[in-house]
Amino acid sequence: MEEFAEVKISGKSYELPVITGTEDEKGIDITKLRALSGAITLDSGFKNTGATKSAVTYLDGENGILRYRGYSIEELAEKASFMEVSYLLINGELPTTAQLSEFEGEITNHTLIHEDMKRFFEAYPSKAHPMGIVASLLCSLSTFYPDSQNPNRTEEEIELTIFRLLAKLPTIAAWAYKNFVGHPVVYPKNELNYGDNFLNMMFSLPSEDYKIDPVVSDALNKLLILHADHEQNCSASTVRIVGSSHANLYSSISAGVIALWGPLHGGANQAVIEMLESIHADGSPLEDWINKAKDKNDPFRLMGFGHRVYKNFDPRAKIIKKAADDVLSKLGINDPLIDIAKQLEEVALNDEYFKARNLYPNVDFYSGIIYKALGIPTEMFTVMFALGRLPGWIAQWKEMIENKEPIGRPRQIYTGENERSFVTAEKR
Ligand code: SDX
Repeated sequence: MEEFAEVKISGKSYELPVITGTEDEKGIDITKLRALSGAITLDSGFKNTGATKSAVTYLDGENGILRYRGYSIEELAEKASFMEVSYLLINGELPTTAQLSEFEGEITNHTLIHEDMKRFFEAYPSKAHPMGIVASLLCSLSTFYPDSQNPNRTEEEIELTIFRLLAKLPTIAAWAYKNFVGHPVVYPKNELNYGDNFLNMMFSLPSEDYKIDPVVSDALNKLLILHADHEQNCSASTVRIVGSSHANLYSSISAGVIALWGPLHGGANQAVIEMLESIHADGSPLEDWINKAKDKNDPFRLMGFGHRVYKNFDPRAKIIKKAADDVLSKLGINDPLIDIAKQLEEVALNDEYFKARNLYPNVDFYSGIIYKALGIPTEMFTVMFALGRLPGWIAQWKEMIENKEPIGRPRQIYTGENERSFVTAEKR
């Protein structure tokens, strides 16, 4: 039975259809609001505004639920491979054995980047932040594959670009790391799986090959799955809106990387470790830091805490917190930062300010501790987030294109000057 919302403006009433999602979420469809009433809606930061209908990921922030194409994040993190989850997000179903083998085979065959791209690295400063390199080289891939710039691509051409992106991002990411540490690049090895190939390109040296540790391999697989998608977050929305102008997929993904870099978004995982290291070095009582985070006059915030959607535990944070304990104990690492993180969590969760605002640890609070234990430097943490999020961004872009969604162009409420006449400089 169709449902309607009634809006009253200047004494006149308007009826707007209410749409209901698969999980009974309600949305007021305002498509016709301006034509009917001349009014628009205003919602800075889109805190209450849906930008699209999507079948990719479901989030329930109140109950801490996250599902990719209907499968719970807990099951996928425990039982799936990152390649299976990538296939699931992009194609909507878990792959059969044959489909997975073909998917992985296609990706394996595209892991090299054009040798000319090595010259890019000669131009970057040695300590160039890897996110800046990754965003630039992803966009530059569109110049090496000019066919990808054609907005009327065939499905096969889109699929080839998707394979190239999934295949080449680990290579670009690992080479950005090698540039950061001043080591020679390591080429992909086709006999290794996706995550192990990345680790090998990151940590192998001319003097010795990296020895794949199953603990590290499993932790990376889990982390990539946990970061794979998160519905209409800032970077996914960026990918969608850039893609809605029919800019090519490489450039849309590059825009997503840039949005993710911000410390309020994916850059928080780097900011969390830097925060924990400051707290560790400073030695002040944790309450002092909690009070700083609560002080409106102090720019300090408890990084890795709070979330636009989760008003309960971020289910990913729970899994990562346990994985951090497992990885540290299996690798025999005693990192004081995890104890500080746990104590900080304990103090914050019992503090009225955090409880009143439903601020809980998010995906970024513990992830850096695992990346650090895997030997990944802080500057690479957000690149790791991008590596995981790539299939999600691709899935969101693909859905937007397949649904033939219009170019994104929000409205505004103007608050500037009324009309006024030009006056010459002498009269100003
Ligand atoms: C990610 O959207 C996604 O799905 C993102 C993500 C994904 O997978 O794509 O989950 C990944 O980006 C996780 C978030 C990583 N960012 C951080 O950890 C940075 C620290 N967190 C905050 O900056 C903040 O919580 C945000 C940005 C995450 C959410 O901000 P909102 O939804 O705009 O909420 P807000 O800033 O308006 O905060 C509401 C209140 C405010 O206080 P009052 O004005 O009500 O008094 O809570 C306070 C804020 O000051 N607050 C915090 C806080 N986070 C919110 N106070 C102290 N420390 C914090 N971390």
